Amino acid sequence: MTISSPSFFRRIWRVLDERLSLSGLAYAIPEHGNTLPFLLGGTAVTLFIVQALTGILLAQFYNPFPVTEPKAQAGFFPHNPNWPLAYASIWHIVNEVPFGAFLRSLHFWTANGIVVVLGLHLIRNYITATYKRPRELQWMIGVLAGIIGLLFVFTGTMLKWDQEGLEALEHNVEIGEFVGALGYWFSPEFAVSIPLTVRVYVAHIAILPLLIVPLLLTHFYLIKRFGLSTPFWIRTFTAKMLPFTSHLKRLLLLGAAVFAILAVLSLAVAAPLGQPPVEGIEVTKPLWPFLWIFAIEDFLGISGIFYGSIALFIGLMIVPLLDRSSEVHPRKRMFMMGLLIGVIILWIVLSIYGLIAPHQVLSEHPG
Ligand code: HEM
Repeated sequence: MTISSPSFFRRIWRVLDERLSLSGLAYAIPEHGNTLPFLLGGTAVTLFIVQALTGILLAQFYNPFPVTEPKAQAGFFPHNPNWPLAYASIWHIVNEVPFGAFLRSLHFWTANGIVVVLGLHLIRNYITATYKRPRELQWMIGVLAGIIGLLFVFTGTMLKWDQEGLEALEHNVEIGEFVGALGYWFSPEFAVSIPLTVRVYVAHIAILPLLIVPLLLTHFYLIKRFGLSTPFWIRTFTAKMLPFTSHLKRLLLLGAAVFAILAVLSLAVAAPLGQPPVEGIEVTKPLWPFLWIFAIEDFLGISGIFYGSIALFIGLMIVPLLDRSSEVHPRKRMFMMGLLIGVIILWIVLSIYGLIAPHQVLSEHPG
């Protein structure tokens, strides 16, 4: 038997299958599981894996300390020893680490991709009313995982420690002060010898992954337990079934296509890196998923960021409580559909306002 003979591969398969029960993955799932609306959650998983891999590679060269050590830095960052280490290490990744610019851009564009894919996954679940009994907790766990996804993006923007990163952190500190004792973790006094950026880095690479993994495992367990819901556009109760392995193949293909788009984008458009940070000024705007909050801050000040975020969180969590009928067709859920359209319009209007509004330097910003 040669290595290339089919019986060689069949033997390997049999050996592995006997020990890992791989053929157990071919359990039946409904055919609509392989359509785009039902592939979005799995695509988010693929993109999370890309983030973990690119993040691990970037972490080999990233230095989270916001301080400047001109004498020491002159040795390893000779270009500008007055830059804070965190900013200088990003410059080093982009300009001197082989494939560093590509890796960093891929990490950035994949983060954007996750926000888009998760947004579509959430809207799909809302329109198909999958938040209804018995999947109410499935929805709420999804909301928590989605919020953690946004926190990954928010903490990530601080790490590059350019002007935008500093301003994001200053906002974080101010919100911490606003919520009093609850926000103590965000205050520099919590651990005086560890700069806040280092703790944000720990959150980005350890705390948030530790929080999201159990949530996602529960999310997947519940999908297996309850099965996929039947969307309103499928009328027959005897849906055709397919093996789950065909779903995995579809996900692999879609994941590869999305990855290719993000890779081309990363080669064409570099992830932004602004000027080194200067305290006490507000001249940058947040990344697009947070522009709506920037607009609310413009109207209400720092408290607006806090109340806006809480309203988003509570609003999403109580969706299953707002719509408790057994009706799943959107035409018979006019109130819920109106609410969705209203929120999307409000989000677009606030985001456009955030994009074009001039900056307001808040007097309470730390100098
Ligand atoms: C944070 C990342 C998330 C990942 C990786 C993820 C992943 C998945 C996957 C793979 C599925 C099964 C296939 C599909 O329906 O697309 C699924 C189903 C589901 N997800 Fe998520 N999800 C996430 C966030 C969310 C969010 C933000 C929500 C809603 C607020 C949500 C609510 C649901 C519900 C209710 C189902 C069951 C759908 C059904 O039975 O038809 N998920 N999720």
